[in-house]
Amino acid sequence: MTYARITGTGSYLPKHIMTNHDWEKLVDTSHDWIVERTGIEQRHIADDTETSSMMGTEAAKKALEAANLSAQDLDLIICATCTPDQWFPSAAVSIQKALGITADIPAFDVGAACAGFMFALATANNFIRAGQARRVLVVGTEMMSRTLDWTDRTTCVLFADGAGAVILEASNEPGILSTKLHAQGQYSDLLYYPNSQIAPENKREEKYLRMQGQEVFKLAVRGLSDIVEDLTVEPNGPPIKIDWLVPHQANLRIIRAIAKKCGLPMAQVIVTVDKQGNTSSASIPLALDIGIRDGRIQPGQTVLLEGFGGGMAWGGALIKM
Ligand code: ACO
Repeated sequence: MTYARITGTGSYLPKHIMTNHDWEKLVDTSHDWIVERTGIEQRHIADDTETSSMMGTEAAKKALEAANLSAQDLDLIICATCTPDQWFPSAAVSIQKALGITADIPAFDVGAACAGFMFALATANNFIRAGQARRVLVVGTEMMSRTLDWTDRTTCVLFADGAGAVILEASNEPGILSTKLHAQGQYSDLLYYPNSQIAPENKREEKYLRMQGQEVFKLAVRGLSDIVEDLTVEPNGPPIKIDWLVPHQANLRIIRAIAKKCGLPMAQVIVTVDKQGNTSSASIPLALDIGIRDGRIQPGQTVLLEGFGGGMAWGGALIKM
């Protein structure tokens, strides 16, 4: 049996940090409100030298180094993003070029908003299990700051920029144990970022990300709780023991609810939302990279990744490190 194993991770965060106090100067909000409702204290915001593909490339270089591979060893690149530098060619192709890969290998983007990394990881896993790839770069990279209406306090304080990457390699040893993906388009109006240039004339004024936060919050808790059941409860068997939960970092209250569902204390949850805000499809690989590099996540441990976002789309993966 061939498994896909994570053999390296990397991340990139923009240099510029914006605190809640910085937002207080721009919109009618407060540090205390943002911390109490979301857990966010600060976030990284890209400058004009930083783009989605640039950040994704930097994260990829670190992941390749950690896996002890060169970019030329890759045979597939999948990039999750809803904020590519351009609509085409894909961010994955831009990353391929920036890594200096001249070989002809498949490279493509996956879009599922904040759940994008879960969809990209599951796709890469399927390529490896089907014998169609052996060394895959999976990137999540976002410039969410550019999607925001900086006068809308209900969204602008939440989102941020950054990138994370993992290398998946084919192995006989267990790696990704199972994945589960979901989408329900009936909820697409609750969270969206319109393409104002392609939209019909009468809708071109709508340029920014919009979210009905409370509705999304309820669906996120329900969807992610189901993922925990899907991936950790086996028919007729005891629940699979998880060592670490690495969730999408949208809101600390959602993260706490999912940790409770997993029966895990917060000490076994990787939390970055306080320092990074919601970086959409980058948040899970960013959190995974931090947990591995600071030594909390150890080889042989079982990790549950899960993400939720616009679509609504959500998914998870159970992984043996
Ligand atoms: N500062 C101060 N007050 C604010 C702010 C702010 N930044 N934002 C909203 N408020 C106000 C509202 O206007 C409202 O005021 P009102 O009662 O006078 O009308 C009040 O605070 C309460 O607003 P709610 O929306 O009810 O606040 P809630 O507790 O639901 O928190 C939040 C809002 C943080 C957005 C929460 O609903 C949430 O996290 N939702 C889920 C987000 C998520 O998970 N997204 C999924 C992934 S994102 C993706 O896919 C791209």
